[in-house]
Amino acid sequence: MNSIKQKFDLTGKVAIVTGSSKGIGLSIARGLAENGAKLVISSRKQEAVDAIASEFNEAGLEAIGIACHIGDAAQREALVKKTIEKFGRIDILVNNAAINPFYGPLETSDEEVFDKIMNVNVKAPWLLSNLVQPHMKENGSGSIINISSVEGLHPGFRLGLYSMTKSALIMLTKNQAKEWGSYGIRSNVVCPGLIKTKFSQSLWSNDKLVEGYNQMVPLKRMAEPDEMAGVVMLLASDAGSYITGGVYAADGGYLISG
Ligand SMILES: NC(=O)c1ccc[n+]([C@@H]2O[C@H](COP(=O)([O-])OP(=O)(O)OC[C@H]3O[C@@H](n4cnc5c(N)ncnc54)[C@H](OP(=O)(O)O)[C@@H]3O)[C@@H](O)[C@H]2O)c1
Repeated sequence: MNSIKQKFDLTGKVAIVTGSSKGIGLSIARGLAENGAKLVISSRKQEAVDAIASEFNEAGLEAIGIACHIGDAAQREALVKKTIEKFGRIDILVNNAAINPFYGPLETSDEEVFDKIMNVNVKAPWLLSNLVQPHMKENGSGSIINISSVEGLHPGFRLGLYSMTKSALIMLTKNQAKEWGSYGIRSNVVCPGLIKTKFSQSLWSNDKLVEGYNQMVPLKRMAEPDEMAGVVMLLASDAGSYITGGVYAADGGYLISG
């Protein structure tokens, strides 16, 4: 029987992390690579993913960069095809990339924004997972980790459309786990709280908002992106071999506050 340390070891496994040129995705990619996985760094810009892959390679980690706008069908197909061409298998898929183009009351948003955010935050992870599934099925194993948000469980304020997409991602996860469990494929979802990244800059650069958040959450602070990697290591590795269909908050206690 493997020791718990061996169970966290990802040597020989191949991982795709969408939106891994910065922020939470980058921290997750680094964690997976440090634990031994071969990494596909992906975001919309080739230069950005190449720069991160080179950085990883210089640190002795195995990684390549493949640009992919996850909302584009041809680019999703190319991402999976190129990963298989390069590494021959896919063991871990982290659906991390997402957008939030609108902050405001529900009734003032327009349909184009709804379609865009649904396309990137919900439709893309669903379809990308579907492309990866046959490769995991062939191996008889695989781990999908979807990055949702506390917004998917508890409505904040004026983030309604984003919140709806993150809720849908949680239900996608549960259905993936239910339908694909018999193939040895696990699917879980992580719900971060407020994390200091470019994505959330409009929130954490608002002193009043940060003060309110810090007062409310039990841990009394927001998080750095690398604090999201640990939970993903558990879900991605054999250490989490019996975990599927789960919803894991990494939120400093946000969901139990108030
Ligand atoms: N930060 C928070 O407080 C927080 C809280 C809860 C949940 N989350 C979730 O955590 C995830 C990561 O967010 P983050 O805060 O780390 O954001 P971030 O720092 O802005 O990074 C987003 C990453 O996604 C890429 N990206 C954006 N649109 C893309 C697209 N259409 N296709 C492919 N890649 C795309 C970006 O690179 P390019 O721009 O070069 O494409 C970048 O690598 C998201 O799912 C977000 O909803 C964040």
